[in-house]
Amino acid sequence: MEAAKLTIFAPWLVPFLIAGALLLLINGFRRARGHREPPFIAPKFPIFGHLIGFTQRRFDYYYDLYKSSRHEIYTLSFPGMPGGKVYVLNSPKLLPHAQRVPHKISLAHVDAIYTAKIAGLSDSAGKTFAEYSHVGESKPTYLAEGLSNAYSATKPGPLLNRATKVAVETLEISLRKLDQNETNSVEFNAWVRNEIAVSITQSAWGPQNPYQDPEICRAFWEFQENVPGVMFFPFSKYTCARPYAAREKVTEAFIKFYANGGNDTASPWVQGATNVSNRWKITDLDKARLDIANSHGIIANATPTGFWTMYHIFSDQAVLQEVRATMEPLLTTTEIDGNINYILDVCQIREIPLMKSILYEVLRCYANGVGTRMVVEDTVLADRHLLKKGSFLFISNQSCHLDQSSWGPTAHQFNARRFVESKTPRNAFVGWGGGQSMCPGRFLAQNQILSFCAMMALRFEARPRGGSWVHPGTDTRNTTINVHPPKREVLVDITPREGRRLGSWRFSC
Ligand code: HEM
Repeated sequence: MEAAKLTIFAPWLVPFLIAGALLLLINGFRRARGHREPPFIAPKFPIFGHLIGFTQRRFDYYYDLYKSSRHEIYTLSFPGMPGGKVYVLNSPKLLPHAQRVPHKISLAHVDAIYTAKIAGLSDSAGKTFAEYSHVGESKPTYLAEGLSNAYSATKPGPLLNRATKVAVETLEISLRKLDQNETNSVEFNAWVRNEIAVSITQSAWGPQNPYQDPEICRAFWEFQENVPGVMFFPFSKYTCARPYAAREKVTEAFIKFYANGGNDTASPWVQGATNVSNRWKITDLDKARLDIANSHGIIANATPTGFWTMYHIFSDQAVLQEVRATMEPLLTTTEIDGNINYILDVCQIREIPLMKSILYEVLRCYANGVGTRMVVEDTVLADRHLLKKGSFLFISNQSCHLDQSSWGPTAHQFNARRFVESKTPRNAFVGWGGGQSMCPGRFLAQNQILSFCAMMALRFEARPRGGSWVHPGTDTRNTTINVHPPKREVLVDITPREGRRLGSWRFSC
């Protein structure tokens, strides 16, 4: 008996067992590929080749494959993903076909899975969240009600104006401090990021906003920069301990927010979200956890967008002068008894073509992520590509944003005036997503970022230490965000503009 055991587990069998397992896996992937599915791109190394490519190049990898294959959509074998594969869509022409069937190619199903993971929801709240019925079905769902509240609270109108004013007034308190010093030396990204995070969250959570506490902000960044680890590492409480603990710290702050009646003075948008949660019997602990997922949605893309918009205004003298000239007419200046009062109209800025163009060009060039969808039933796209139920579809922003047939030969260059000079090509701009799930926060984000940039341009100079602006590159490691932050530090000196008299700032909408 003992001899038989030894023979069965003989070490010389190991390579054969591994080879057998690999063959089975490869065969499994082959079977997973149907004839009508999008063309399959073979990996450089069997099985794990695409995973390795993605780990090294992140979202650039999908664009690399598009450039070399020119497939409007392709299939990649991807161990660990449902069906062992993913589809990547690259074409502005094909995109509307996917957007037209949100009940079959669904963002909501992705939202449900990822929100529970980002927030660390309890099983029961995760289940309530995941019970999403198809878009368009009449049955009410928690996710659909939450989204409907977000869309109505942030669409153009009095609530958006009010949120914008709160955000801009919060920013002004900080800018006033810069007026006090001859020179303010800052790391530009860290500074812009903090100003935007605090002011935009103030417009949501109101006077008891947890992010007013710099410790909570720091904990949020610790978590936010490591979201993929917290979501996907096994036993992340131990394997991704610091970011995990940071998320718990922010959760504690939101628990206190609810316990201290913070909701009563929060924006109608947050109060509406709380009402929805209460109707669905979500506990205060899960509400606090969901606030972290919401913070991620609100802050994560707005902060790098704010940095790059500011960077491209101040690093180009011609753009800076044009921004100043464009913004001056929105500024009313009065003088009473020697006191200067400035009033800036902040809700119109996003309609000023140059300002809109700079921000849209930032998104075109830096929103390098993907839109993720789950295929919830077998679907044929544009009568030619079969997408199998249960698989994931990634919509590659880069393939749309850098497509020369849409944007012309300068697609790879930043041009602040691009959206002023030419019409936006159809379906090729996906900076806010598109179709039914287009970002509801886009009006607030634009109002806030552009008001911040306008106030900075009107009141201050920002000069790089070392004399000239050097592009800091982009840090594409965080795959849970769409717009990526700079890779290197940008040290600047911010000084009050010569000739601009100190005064009080107020805002109209
Ligand atoms: C510059 C800042 C922002 C950018 C670039 C941005 C970008 C996006 C994009 C691309 C999507 C669609 C995702 C997809 O189709 O896969 C999206 C969805 C969403 N965004 Fe934003 N966003 C920003 C700011 C905000 C803010 C400030 C809020 C909250 C007020 C917000 C709330 C949402 C929500 C709730 C969704 C989900 C919509 C749905 O599932 O139907 N976003 N955002």
